[in-house]
Amino acid sequence: MTTQIKDLNHYKEIYAQSVKDPEGFWKKEAESFIWFEPFDKVCEWSFKGPDVKWFLNGKTNITYNCIDRHLIDRADQVAILWEPNESDREAKSITYQELHDEVCRCANGLKSLGVQKGDRVVFYMPMVPELAIGVLACARIGAVHSVVFAGFSAQALADRVDDAEAKIIICSDYNKRGAKNIAVKDVVDEAMNIGCNSVTNVLVHKNTGEKVDWSDDVDLWWHDVVDNQGSMCKAEEMDSEDMLFILYTSGSTGKPKGVVHTVGGYMLYTCFSFRNVFQYKEGDIYWCTADIGWITGHSYIVYGPLLAGATTMMFEGVPTYPDAGRFWEICEKHKVNQFYTAPTAIRALMSKGDEWPEKYDLSSIKVLGTVGEPINEEAWHWYDQKIGKGKAPIVDTWWQTETGGIMITPLPGITDTKPTYASYPMPGIQPVLVDAEGNVLEGNDIEGLLCIKHPWPSMLRTTYGDHDRCKNVYFSAFEDMYFTGDGARKDAEGRIRVIGRVDDVINVSGHRMGTAEVENAINEHPNVVESAVVGYPHDIKGQGIYAYVISQDKDLDDDFKKEILEVVKKEIGPIAKPDKIQFTSGLPKTRSGKIMRRILRKIASNDTSNLGDTSTLLNPDVVDDLIKGAEAV
Ligand code: WTA
Repeated sequence: MTTQIKDLNHYKEIYAQSVKDPEGFWKKEAESFIWFEPFDKVCEWSFKGPDVKWFLNGKTNITYNCIDRHLIDRADQVAILWEPNESDREAKSITYQELHDEVCRCANGLKSLGVQKGDRVVFYMPMVPELAIGVLACARIGAVHSVVFAGFSAQALADRVDDAEAKIIICSDYNKRGAKNIAVKDVVDEAMNIGCNSVTNVLVHKNTGEKVDWSDDVDLWWHDVVDNQGSMCKAEEMDSEDMLFILYTSGSTGKPKGVVHTVGGYMLYTCFSFRNVFQYKEGDIYWCTADIGWITGHSYIVYGPLLAGATTMMFEGVPTYPDAGRFWEICEKHKVNQFYTAPTAIRALMSKGDEWPEKYDLSSIKVLGTVGEPINEEAWHWYDQKIGKGKAPIVDTWWQTETGGIMITPLPGITDTKPTYASYPMPGIQPVLVDAEGNVLEGNDIEGLLCIKHPWPSMLRTTYGDHDRCKNVYFSAFEDMYFTGDGARKDAEGRIRVIGRVDDVINVSGHRMGTAEVENAINEHPNVVESAVVGYPHDIKGQGIYAYVISQDKDLDDDFKKEILEVVKKEIGPIAKPDKIQFTSGLPKTRSGKIMRRILRKIASNDTSNLGDTSTLLNPDVVDDLIKGAEAV
């Protein structure tokens, strides 16, 4: 097992070691895994390409390390504990042995469909055990999984399937989420009509059993393909740098990009970080409420916990169904020891009142975690007092799809916590703050752009099919550094607080959204001439989406707004629907035609006292019109 840090001195000691001799440090950690063939070099890297390789020529399989190696001493221990959407339905427990057998069956089933090492398989599924099983089955045979969050639209799904040139889509018939029943297979059918030419089969898991449209040429039932397969499937020998998965995420420009993670480094770092950040102890029940459609679910529901031999819980539903006590009811019922969620969920539940957590016994909770966006002070204190009763340290974990694992975080019981501060870097992680020119800011009490100056095992290797994009987005802003896109500050003691994105990415309920992506969707409406999207502070969501829209030949009324929302829903999904739409006759532009978003952000945030210099605008008059117009939105 990877090292578990014991106390503050131990943290300081290994952090120092990891900076002084990164290769020596990670070599030792890597030795705790099973390698079919040992690696002959720890790391080779250049951020110029970028070209980063870890554990060169080592051969392994992540599922062998997640499952098989635990069968000696924990075959009967629960690996995945599944809690259904409805509180009166029974939870399901899958032991490590059962998980092994199920993953092998599914892997054999995929093989029977002609899926081979390197092929891409897209998942579009709710939070059912089969999603985790399917993902692991891909990894078992070396197929590359790409999970698409099941809230995305058919168009967004088709875009991702096409970019990945996936061979198979795995979905469910329907998806129960809260009071909603979502026709998942219908969305896949629609995606297949729009694109998905590379797809040979759609594998459908019968989840609710309701009737679905069927196409005999491509559709297959999961139970027909998987259930009769043998429960042994040899774990494919994977090179450390073979692709493990692609996960699409939004950036400042263009369509979402496929972040690529590879086997060896990701395996090592998710296990190491899981064990340390959550201080998981034998027998603990760990629950991360994320969806496997996002990176948090990949690293801290599936891979990290299973690599560490933990019991990981998967929840099908939503925090407020059947009522706002559901999370706490589940914590009591399963005696959850580590609970990991997003600030947006905390704020939403906080707004429902203290009586909900007060109804339940939360004394099993030892560690609380948050991820996905900056947590505000009020929510931090509520979480600390009402959920942790002041006794469960909060780990405010900062990281990204691209970083693969948690990068900056307090370690519970080891380093101190301070509201809204992600605090300290993990061993092996070397964050720096730089100014706009890329000069590294030394010392404490500083504010700047957050970069990482040395590679770490679970960093992205490329963006699928477009290596230049990876270089341009992450490695070109500043020489020899990975640029995160976030701004941060360091307090007088060196704790880091991540303030938020400094690029055109907004964070809505912990979901990353490119403003350009939303604009492109809005512009699909035939009567929209131009649009500009910015984020603004939102009590529950963290950031809301504010859209300025220029239109012609159309009544600027609520019906038009509804149509715009429909278009966005169709192009991306309901999560990208603007919270506010303001019609305008113009947008503030520089003489070179660039939209001055700084001004739009201020107007959307109702913070117009100091708009800065507007004299360089091509059309300064538009600013007053926008301010007036905003009052009516
Ligand atoms: C933001 C989620 C402040 C940040 C794992 C980052 C955070 C983006 C925190 C990545 C945090 C994530 N404090 N901001 N603890 N965690 N972020 O790729 O802006 O969905 O760049 O990965 O979320 O979002 P992503």
